[in-house]
Amino acid sequence: MALNNAMTADFLRSAYGGESMAHMRYLIWGEYAEKDGFPNIGRLFKGVAYAEWAHAKNHFNVLKEQVGDSSVAAGAVFGHTNIVDNLQGAINGELHEVDQMYPVYLETARFQNEKDAEKAFHYALEAEKIHAKLFQDAQDKAKEGKDIEIDTIYVCPVCGYTEIGDNVEKCPVCGVKKDMFKAF
Ligand code: FE2
Ligand code: FE2
Ligand code: FE2
Repeated sequence: MALNNAMTADFLRSAYGGESMAHMRYLIWGEYAEKDGFPNIGRLFKGVAYAEWAHAKNHFNVLKEQVGDSSVAAGAVFGHTNIVDNLQGAINGELHEVDQMYPVYLETARFQNEKDAEKAFHYALEAEKIHAKLFQDAQDKAKEGKDIEIDTIYVCPVCGYTEIGDNVEKCPVCGVKKDMFKAF
């Protein structure tokens, strides 16, 4: 279904750009983490990268009838210094999404009665809250020079819900069955 409101469409394009870059940045930072001797933090980056892919895909799909260009500006796109700083970049990005970006985008979609966009923003917002916490826990360990000790990471392919370990039967955010989750 085509979107009726330009403001929501602009927010979807912006969110698509931001999620796409977060996906790539986390894959790259994940490789650095592994190379620097933090394989579990590397695995966390890669699992969360998959969640950001799911978010980008959802935004793309809501926009798929709006054929055209878009330019993207996003913060914290480049740079690798060390694992603690990379994790701070990740935390800052996630918290920006949780505190500012997705609440505003979500309220706008709701106000403009864009149901598909509302769902895509809601899914992302819920996952980013978890990501901020996971990256914060990882950074606390990395500051001590230690890797995190974590079980398998499971990520919902529909909404990006992310959890450590085998705790749920189905996704608490979107309801998809656990056997659809991707494990890292
Ligand atoms: Fe995301
Ligand atoms: Fe995230
Ligand atoms: Fe889900």
